[in-house]
Amino acid sequence: MDNKVDVLLGLQWGDEGKGKVVDVLTPAYDIVARFQGGPNAGHTLEFEGKKYVLRSIPSGIFQSGQTNIIGNGVVLDPILFRGEAVELAASGHDITKVLKISKKAHLIMPTHRLLDAAGERAKGNSKIGTTGKGIGPTYTDKISRNGLRVGDTLATDFADRYAAARNRHLETIRSLGADIDTAALEKTEKDWFDAIAYLHTFDIIDSEHYINARITEGARVLCEGAQGTMLDVDFGSYPFVTSSNTITAGACTGLGVAPGRIGDVFGIFKAYCTRVGSGPFPTELFDADGHTMRDRGHEYGAVTGRERRCGWIDLVALRYAVMINGVTKLIMMKSDVLDTFPTIKACTAYRLPDGSTTRDFPFDISESAGIEPVYENITGWMTDLSKAKSEEELPEAFTDYIAFVERQLGVPVVILSVGPDREQTIIRKK
Ligand code: GDP
Ligand code: IMO
Ligand code: MG
Repeated sequence: MDNKVDVLLGLQWGDEGKGKVVDVLTPAYDIVARFQGGPNAGHTLEFEGKKYVLRSIPSGIFQSGQTNIIGNGVVLDPILFRGEAVELAASGHDITKVLKISKKAHLIMPTHRLLDAAGERAKGNSKIGTTGKGIGPTYTDKISRNGLRVGDTLATDFADRYAAARNRHLETIRSLGADIDTAALEKTEKDWFDAIAYLHTFDIIDSEHYINARITEGARVLCEGAQGTMLDVDFGSYPFVTSSNTITAGACTGLGVAPGRIGDVFGIFKAYCTRVGSGPFPTELFDADGHTMRDRGHEYGAVTGRERRCGWIDLVALRYAVMINGVTKLIMMKSDVLDTFPTIKACTAYRLPDGSTTRDFPFDISESAGIEPVYENITGWMTDLSKAKSEEELPEAFTDYIAFVERQLGVPVVILSVGPDREQTIIRKK
């Protein structure tokens, strides 16, 4: 079977720069498809002096007419989707002709968002710090076989099924002690049904049949991950994770593509590391270096505007992410953010409470597990990378840093990003 499906996904805690690179790679593909997550994602693209943030819509819509697919593994909020599509149309990007939506994608209901908020409130100090978009409750309904799918909206009894789900949600919300503003909810529900009607102006398809047929014809597919491996529900820093499989295997279940069809897996990471929301982060910095990363990297969430926590690159976690995903090519982002650091630290191992060290990512990385990062110091390049156009222009200290990361992870770095713009991308020759 020919490998025609490549996957691009985040290796850290999200926000690695997936949107930017999917846009850069799109001209080499016929189809770009999202396979999991929902509007918890915020994928930023910059080109021709304009900036766009995509949430549910794949990042392949700005190139030359490639088909974009919202796959069955995605959870879709019709109201937020409509907002995103209408805003794009207003800026001259009509996506109605290029976007197709899977009948099997699950719908985020207004009460899923209320459940998300009530669940977080009930957790108190141990809250996850979700994006509040109803992601967890929607996937919970999917797995407990109570969900509503895009294709279900075409059924004659859809309104009844909606009402049954909503009433079940309201009971749970009340049991969590949360108040319900019935008038506000009814208003949102009306808008939600209007947004469903808008959804019907798009091509709603059996996406697994469509993708497999196109692959057989020779089409090249790029699967766009959301979130990152450390937020994967099985392998991430559980329970401080999202509710989907963000890893390569998620592309198979989230699109209906067989594992044997997977070709290259592009693993994308920042030259340092960030995380939004709660949960463990072994290399987190609370000092001036962390502030410098946040300022230089504009590390504020694209969805919620929250400050992103910043720290040094964690090669133990990255090695694990490379293994779980079968990464074949690495992409290093935001290298320019480290331009002013005379010394850069890289965590190559964790020290355990008994004094031993491990290079293998452990079961528990929470503070109570008592692991300490072991760092190697690397000489910084102290050069403005943001204007570099080719590999030849890169300072030796920077290429030494890349070689160090490649040795640690055992996979080549094929693309370097030195700024947010589409043009600030260096494709390596070897
Ligand atoms: P995604 O969720 O993985 O698509 O990433 P986000 O868009 O949430 O966050 C990445 C942020 O970094 C965005 O604001 C991008 O515009 C920006 N960005 C992407 N690549 C680079 C880069 O190489 N250098 C700098 N300085 N910013 C970058
Ligand atoms: P992109 O695709 C960074 C985080 C939230 C929270 C946890 C669970 O832009 O990389 P959820 O709303 O999914 O239930 O929240 O996951 N999170 C992200 N962090 N980037 C994202 O997406 C994220 N999507 C969710 O902050 O800690
Ligand atoms: Mg993001």
